[in-house]
Amino acid sequence: MSMQVQDYREYLQEILIPEEQLQQRIAELAAEISRDYEGKLPLLICILRGGVMFLTDLIRYLTIPHEIDFMAIESYGQGRRDPGEIRLTMDLHTTIRGRHVLLVEDIIDTGNTVAQVLELLQVRQPKSLKVCVLLDKVERRQVEVPIHYRGFEIPNKFVFGYGLDMDGYWRNLPFIAVPDLSRYRPPKPFPSEEKD
Ligand code: PRP
Repeated sequence: MSMQVQDYREYLQEILIPEEQLQQRIAELAAEISRDYEGKLPLLICILRGGVMFLTDLIRYLTIPHEIDFMAIESYGQGRRDPGEIRLTMDLHTTIRGRHVLLVEDIIDTGNTVAQVLELLQVRQPKSLKVCVLLDKVERRQVEVPIHYRGFEIPNKFVFGYGLDMDGYWRNLPFIAVPDLSRYRPPKPFPSEEKD
């Protein structure tokens, strides 16, 4: 079914982190990670889907040998944003026992997702387990999580772009943006297809 998707420029309120600033900070994080994991062959794990852009840019700046892997989860509870349990919907291909693991996330909000993913990974006995996050919405934290590499601390505003979506769209934007939600219209099917 084709959808009517509003152009983000119609509701863009502000570019919170421009592309250059993002890339510069990601290069710095990669330099730090390259130093810290020298000779350790780390495995970088990305939680789908928001973290994909960050992971792929981050590894382009790494100067050490490393591997990547992906996992997907679904949160359930009363609402999507309520702290609830998570369910693993796609597991890793790699065995992490004895490995140096670095979890790479786009954003930590309540902390619920990362806290539970860490628990789940810890059971598998990695040699080390650390967290690298691009955006830390620290005011929203409900569960304390360790953050070893942090890109930016951001205010408690809804953000999209650079992996983060507006109802599934605009993850491709190279910057982090804030929408004016009063001007936002969620995607809907084209009128002619609504009856399908
Ligand atoms: C986002 C983000 C984190 C989580 C952070 O994922 O990628 O996984 O929310 O929120 P928390 O700290 O409150 O748990 P989202 O559910 O939007 O899925 P997506 O990555 O597939 O867009």
